Order: sequence, then structure tokens, then C-alpha cells
Amino acid sequence: MKFPERLLPVLYVLLSLIISSCNSGESASDDAESRAEKMLGQMTLDDKIGQMSQLDIGYFRDAEQLKKAVREGRCGSLLNFTGVDQVNDIQRIAMEESRLGIPLIIGRDVIHGYRTVFPIPLGMAASWNPAIVKEAFRISAIEASSQGIKWTFAPMLDITWDPRWGRIAEGCGEDPLLASTMAKAMVEGAQGDSLTDPTAIAACAKHYVGYGFAEAGRDYNTTYISEPVLRNVVLKPFKAACDAGVLTVMSAFNDLNGVPTSANEFTLKQILRNEWGFDGFVVSDWGSVTELVDHGYAVDEKDAAAKAINAGVDMEMASTAYYDNIKALLDEKKITMDQIDDAVRYILTVKYRLGLFENPYVDPQAEEKILDPAFLEHARKVARQSTVMLKNEKNTLPLSASGISSVAVIGPLADAPRDQLGTWCFDGRAENSVTPLRAIRDIMGEKRVNYSEGLRYSRDKSKAQFAAAVAAARKSDAILFFAGEEWILSGEGQSRGRIDLPGAQSELISELSKTGKPLILVVMAGRPLAIGDELAASDALLYAWHGGTMAGPALADLIFGEESPSGKLPVTFVKGEGQIPFYYYRKNTGRPATKGSWTPIDSIPVENPQSSLGYRSFQLDYGYTPLLPFGYGLSYTTFTYSDLNLSSQTMAPEGSLTVTAKVTNSGTWDADEIVQLYVRDRVGSITRPIKELKGYRRINIKKGETATVEFTLTAADLAFFNGRETVTEPGEFDVWIGPNSDEGLHSEFVIAD
Ligand code: NOJ
Repeated sequence: MKFPERLLPVLYVLLSLIISSCNSGESASDDAESRAEKMLGQMTLDDKIGQMSQLDIGYFRDAEQLKKAVREGRCGSLLNFTGVDQVNDIQRIAMEESRLGIPLIIGRDVIHGYRTVFPIPLGMAASWNPAIVKEAFRISAIEASSQGIKWTFAPMLDITWDPRWGRIAEGCGEDPLLASTMAKAMVEGAQGDSLTDPTAIAACAKHYVGYGFAEAGRDYNTTYISEPVLRNVVLKPFKAACDAGVLTVMSAFNDLNGVPTSANEFTLKQILRNEWGFDGFVVSDWGSVTELVDHGYAVDEKDAAAKAINAGVDMEMASTAYYDNIKALLDEKKITMDQIDDAVRYILTVKYRLGLFENPYVDPQAEEKILDPAFLEHARKVARQSTVMLKNEKNTLPLSASGISSVAVIGPLADAPRDQLGTWCFDGRAENSVTPLRAIRDIMGEKRVNYSEGLRYSRDKSKAQFAAAVAAARKSDAILFFAGEEWILSGEGQSRGRIDLPGAQSELISELSKTGKPLILVVMAGRPLAIGDELAASDALLYAWHGGTMAGPALADLIFGEESPSGKLPVTFVKGEGQIPFYYYRKNTGRPATKGSWTPIDSIPVENPQSSLGYRSFQLDYGYTPLLPFGYGLSYTTFTYSDLNLSSQTMAPEGSLTVTAKVTNSGTWDADEIVQLYVRDRVGSITRPIKELKGYRRINIKKGETATVEFTLTAADLAFFNGRETVTEPGEFDVWIGPNSDEGLHSEFVIAD
């Protein structure tokens, strides 16, 4: 039968309605919930307890014990268990041999790539480019799912103000807005467009919450966070992840204001569930339930299980306090069956939403995509955009490969394939890394590269190779020194007290600077290091974090001018540990320092009588400014900002206004600029930060061209929690559009009463 042509438009509308209703997240999730409810009705208490337990593969003595446990429904999830055949085998047992055929959800830390490794998350945040970060997470999900992983313990969304903390590497830096946009990108990338797609993997917003505020940056340490800081800063990226549909949240290790976060009803129940309506499930961090005993918050593991369940932790990771105690706790009425049902319902709903009941198996063909050339190319792009140029005196960079006869490549990170992958990298392989040395040799040819490692590894204190390194430098036209930290110096449990370049790196840099050759430093590290002296000693400096598998070619692209550096700092760089914490959205204080008010320590006369040294908020040695401000980063071109314009000087209490500025590429390179919008709420019912990022754009501007950048600023963007409620308060505001948090064109506006 031929369909009448005039009715075709009607048919298209009907079809698209049908398709969109099939695709709509709401109906899929409703369906998942009702199926979970139905399943719940068939479950025994043992089945339910099993679903609330996640076990690490190391828990099992051997494969037979694991299979028996899955057959008996002893656990709903496994972590660190991967591989096509292994996963297919264990899922078959879960589906066909366990009483109810409930699939496992298999989790793993896929933090910044699976086999194709991207820059550490702090590096990715330095790209200020959520689109490429989303794609990086998509690629990670494609690779990880090909090995049976359906759940990643990422993104890590802990805001931190402390570069000593080893886990700063895993997060997105200090700013709540930048971290929130990254959170959304990471969740959307991991979970994909459709949760039932075989390559979709559940994301996990962690560590909920406040873990990044560990005192002194010592991992697992106590945190005290006021409710305004919690709500205005720390919770923001978690809320963004929830708004983006994150399926799971991980409760953290830290004690928050006296209540450990894995037993914290305020954050887990009141905020996450009641205020935000989170409908995925909460997993504890590894052993964080049993650690309630160590915290002194529970008398024993049984008490710990009760407290975690009462607070709303649905699944216990690695430890077995739930499995061992739930029955007794129910008998003693310390917990209720409703609580157990709620937890299991959340867990099953996620499994249904992920399509695990329909297809828990891995397609053996899928692993062919691992290390796909397009993935590696993307890793190279992300590494390029993540690199921040901090100095480029006399246009030392880029180097012209044809214009120089030779280059010295020196330093412990020049050819360190594992180190460039960074922390939290279980599945990346050093043999897939392309190091800077390899990439530079590919461009310059072996003979024109004078390589001398100088130091064997970042902590090496031996000067045995200094003379050879200096000799290599002397016979070259320029020095490329690859400095930094080995991967093991950042990450979980890898905090430092000092954040300088470890080992004898600074001494070697100082020796090399005496040769008078152009000295280009490339720093590959897991944290912002205090590199003031090295910055001063160098002619140019690229901050490259741990850039992943393709760090070498990406850096070579920048060094030899294939592309201009374009990253900007996602975190303030301090002069030394004594400045910590130093974040750009600090308060003004009653005595803000100014240039004239600072008395440098060496300018104080000997035996100075008791007198004012300014009585302002500074330190005699460091002064009052950080080494480098948040948002900072240079380019091979120059950008000139002009014509800041507001659509109105007043904003209605629930209104908005547009802020525009012109940005001209006034240099000689086509390049990206990251344009930043900041505001200051001058007076509040509680004091307000001196600046807050309210928008940003990465735009490409060709040389000689001008772009107009427009931001919409709404009253809602200006709301803050004042200790009682979240409000936008009327009054005067400053607004800036500029290249970093320290510079920019300024204007002002008023929110009317
Ligand atoms: C402990 C870490 O804190 C967490 O980030 C990670 O996801 C789990 N271990 C699982 O490996």
C-alpha cells in the first residue's frame, strides 16, 4: 500500500513522537523503577543484602569461591574485575545460575582514560573546554565497557585549596563553576546519549563531600567546612553532576564538622536526596563504613553499618559490615526493612536503567576499538589544550625545527613513559606512551637531539650526570628541560608537605641557566608546584601536568608551533606552602593589602623599634599576591580586550543582563583565547568573595580578527547561601571580562530592591 503523500508530514510527526517518547529519560527511568519494584517483591532478605554489597576481586580466595558467591547472590557488584571472557562468564552465572538472575554491576576507577590515557583531571580542567573533556570520557567509556566495566568511580569533584593534597590531581581545581561545567561534561561523556547503549557506563560523583578540605592537605584528614562554603563552593559540582543525571554518588572518607561523610545524614539525606532529589544510589568509599569505628563515630562494625544505613549509604564498598550485620540490626530494630528496600530499589533501578538485565554481556568485538587512532588523536588534542604557558620571554617559544641546528633534551620527565600517565591509571600502559623525547626526535631527527637525562627520576639527588647534561646544553641551540614529579608523588595517600620540584632538579636547572642558552622548562606534575625560582631562571615555561599517553606529541606540537598553547590555570599557584590556602575567591578582609602597604622582610631595618609594618593582610616574605593567579595562561599571540558593555546598569531582582566585550587577536598567530567573566557582590548579609567566576568561553580568533563575546548574567547566577537561605541580594556589583582572575575590563551594575 502506498502512503498518501500529503499525509507524510503527519507520519513524520507521529514517528518522532513515538521515538522521543521511547528515548525520554523519564519514561525509561519510570519503567526501570517499576521493574525494580517488581523484582524487590520477589527478593529474600539475603538477596537484598547481597545487592548492597560490593566486593573487590581480592576478597576471593580463588575463581571458584567467586563463582559460588555470585551464584548465591552474595554480592550485587564487583570491583576490579575485568576482561571479556571473565566478565561474560561471571555475568552468565549471575543471570542463569543465581536465584533471581540479577546481573552484577562491575566497577573500576577509570579516572582519566582506560588504555588511551588523557591528562589528569586537573589538566583536563586547564583546557576550560568541556566539549573535549566530554569526548575524552566518552572514549574512556567505550574502551572500559569493552572490558566489561559498566561503572566508573569518576568524576572526582572535590574542590580543594591545598596543592599539598595528593588528590588535587584527580579533581578540577579550586573553582566551583569551572568544576561544575567539567562535572557535567564528564558525567555526560561516561553515560553517553543513551544509558542502554553498550558503551554507556554509570558515572559516580565522588567523594561526597568535602574531602578536598583535608587539614594540611594530609590525606583522609579531618575537614571543617562552614555551611556557606559547603553550599557556595564544595557542593556545587556535585549538584551539577546530579543535574546531569549521574547514576551514582560515592560517600567519602572524611569527618565533616564532626560527622564522617559516610554516616552524614545532613549531606546524604537532607541535601542529596531531599533537596536535590537524587534518585541513583550511594556507594561508600573503600572501607569507609568500617572506618567509622576508627573515626570514633561507631563503637564497632555493626554500629558502623547501622549508622551508614541510617544516613543513606546504599552499597558498601569492599568491607563487609553490611553483610555481617544487617540481619541482627533488623532484629534489634536499629534499622528498618524500609531502609533496606529503599537501598535495593535504588541499586536495581540503576541496573535496569543501564540495560544490564537485557544485556549484561560484553561483545568480544568491542575491544578492537581500544587505542583507536582517533582516540589517540583526541588524547593529543586534550593534552595540547591542557598545557598552560606560564612564561615566554622574548618569544623563546615556539622553536623552529628548521631554524635551529640542535636542541638539548634534558630532565627526569623527558623519557618517563609511566610517569606521564599520572596517578589513578590502572589500565594505561607505559609501552603505549609517546614521550617528549620520542616526539622531539621524530621531528628533529635523532642526530639533532642531544639527550641527557641529568637526573634518573624526579627525586634523584645525585649530581653524577650534571656535567653531561651541561655539556649537552652547551652544544645545542636551546635547552628543553622536562621537570616535574613522578606519578607516585600525587594521588591517593600521596600528599606532600613541600611542593617544590623534588630531588636536585632546581640545582640542575640553575646550572643549565648559566650556559646562557635559551632555557625552556616543561613541568609535568600532578599538582601546582611552587616553582618561583625555576620560573625566574627560565626563558619560557610550559605547565603540562601529567599529560597522558600522547603527552609527548602534544608538547612537541606546542614547542614547534603547530599550535599555540591555550590552557589556563584551574588553580592558583602559590609561592610556597606558607601561602596555602590562597584561592582567588577569597574574602577582602578588614585590612586588605595593597602594593604600598607591604613591608618586604628584607627591607625591615635591623633592630627596628616596635612600629607598624603596614598592619595589612600580607606575609613579610611572600607579600600578598600568589605566584600566578587562577585563570592565567599565555599564548603565542596577544589578545586585546575592549568595549566592555552591559545591556543595562541595573538588573531586576529576578532579571538578567548581557555583558559583552570585544577580544582582538592583535598578534600573529591564529589561536584560542579563554575569556572569563567575574563579578563581585560588594556588600552582602554575609561577606562576599572579592571575585567569582560566572562564565567563560574558549573561542578561536584568527590573527587580526576581533570577536565579540557575550555572556548572560542572571540574578540566579548571583544567588548565594547566606547561612539561612539561598538568595540574590540587591545592591552594587562589579563585573569584569578578562583573560584571568587578576586582569580585565571593569564595569558595574546594580540589582534593584
Ligand atoms: C578509594 C578511593 O578513595 C576512591 O576514589 C576509589 O574510587 C576507590 N578506592 C575504589 O578504588
